[in-house]
Amino acid sequence: MKIAVAGTGYVGLVTGVVFAELGNEVICVDIDPAKVDAINKGQSPIYEPGLDELLQRNLEEERLIATTDLAQATRDCEVIFICVGTPPTETGEPDLKYVDAAAATIGRALNGYKIIVNKSTVPIGTGDRVRRIIEQHRAEPHDFDVVSNPEFLREGSAVADTLNPDRIVIGADNPRAAMKIVELYAPLERPMLITNLATAEIIKYASNTFLALKISFINAIADLCERTGADVVQTAKAMGYDPRIGQAFLQAGLGFGGSCFPKDVQAFVHTVQRYGLDPTLFEQILVINDARPKQFVARIRERLGELSGRTIALLGLAFKPNTDDIREARSLEIIRFLLQEGATVRAYDPVAMPRVQAIYPQITYCRNAYEAAENADALALITEWNEFRQLNFERIRNAMRQPNLFDGRNLYDPQRMRKLGFYYYGVGRAADNSDDKTML
Ligand code: UGA
Repeated sequence: MKIAVAGTGYVGLVTGVVFAELGNEVICVDIDPAKVDAINKGQSPIYEPGLDELLQRNLEEERLIATTDLAQATRDCEVIFICVGTPPTETGEPDLKYVDAAAATIGRALNGYKIIVNKSTVPIGTGDRVRRIIEQHRAEPHDFDVVSNPEFLREGSAVADTLNPDRIVIGADNPRAAMKIVELYAPLERPMLITNLATAEIIKYASNTFLALKISFINAIADLCERTGADVVQTAKAMGYDPRIGQAFLQAGLGFGGSCFPKDVQAFVHTVQRYGLDPTLFEQILVINDARPKQFVARIRERLGELSGRTIALLGLAFKPNTDDIREARSLEIIRFLLQEGATVRAYDPVAMPRVQAIYPQITYCRNAYEAAENADALALITEWNEFRQLNFERIRNAMRQPNLFDGRNLYDPQRMRKLGFYYYGVGRAADNSDDKTML
């Protein structure tokens, strides 16, 4: 099949590359010529494990090409995926200007029957909006269908998730269009659900909001654990053995960041309000999440007293491991609070440092965790990259001015860390620093 994919962000580029890998001819389209050039040279503009190899192979085998010309791509293809960004506006509602612009261009270029597939996470009702825009712009009354095919991939495992999705949701009001998209996904041999447009749009938001709800739920439980001497890691584990609850997304810590959960829950709240329903349940997910970084810094302050003149080392800056994405990363809020309180900040992240440096040039960026720990009064784990699991903690402790460890992701074993001579704080973990002689 000949497919155009508008937008080469995480969703668009990975989708395009995977469809090419499945044997389709794919045209990736972006308004940014620099991105298009990079893609055509085999350099993915985003960091995602496995993506570069797949991109290079499909370029070499001439199944994929990138361009800035969406109109031409529309004329050349039967199926056009819209995967453009939907950044939040000041009110938290998604800005649909890129979706609208893509739809208008597609409308003007219509030269025969086309299927336009919304893959961007767009508010409920956007399918109808795209349909109207195309109708307004088409020069001749060519037939077309709009389909909603939400994407569930996670950053950091985007290629693997796209090749092996839990489910494929195809929302279409016309079965002819749905069947064409079923055909496209058939080689993946994964469960497919065919729904109407509105249902597919809701499935995406309901899924992300529920996952965010799990995270905020366990973080609220973590706060109670801290007050009562209970342990949230054991609590979550025991809860998760119930298959109705499940282990996933019950890791307490600094809460969720990224380009999806904060934005999607916010947008969902707006949608629920717009339809005259009570958004309280969904709003609380964000209230709990927003409080996490401040609360974490408060724990550091409780230990160190005034933060002015203190040095805090941060391990991990990306919003989660295996990505250089720092959108809504908890690290940014934590750095902001630490600087506000007059602390000196040192940081290390395997890939995200250049992006943070563009926002906070005033902090010290280090070559590794050991360098970050030098003369620090506290070491705070922000993002649980694998390379932080097996650090030489004696070396870390010896490098520090005071061995205070704040584990924002509950990565470490509290007892082991205390035995190694650290004051250890984990989120929602029983505070037992009774034989603590580490405070200088
Ligand atoms: C999320 C969803 O997991 C994907 O299914 C969805 O397709 C995607 O949003 C999207 O809508 O595009 P993503 O934002 O890439 O994917 O990352 P997640 O792995 O879901 O992590 C989100 C945040 O939650 C991270 O900051 C992570 O640290 C945090 N998190 C996750 C927790 O704090 N606790 C957990 O137990 C799990």
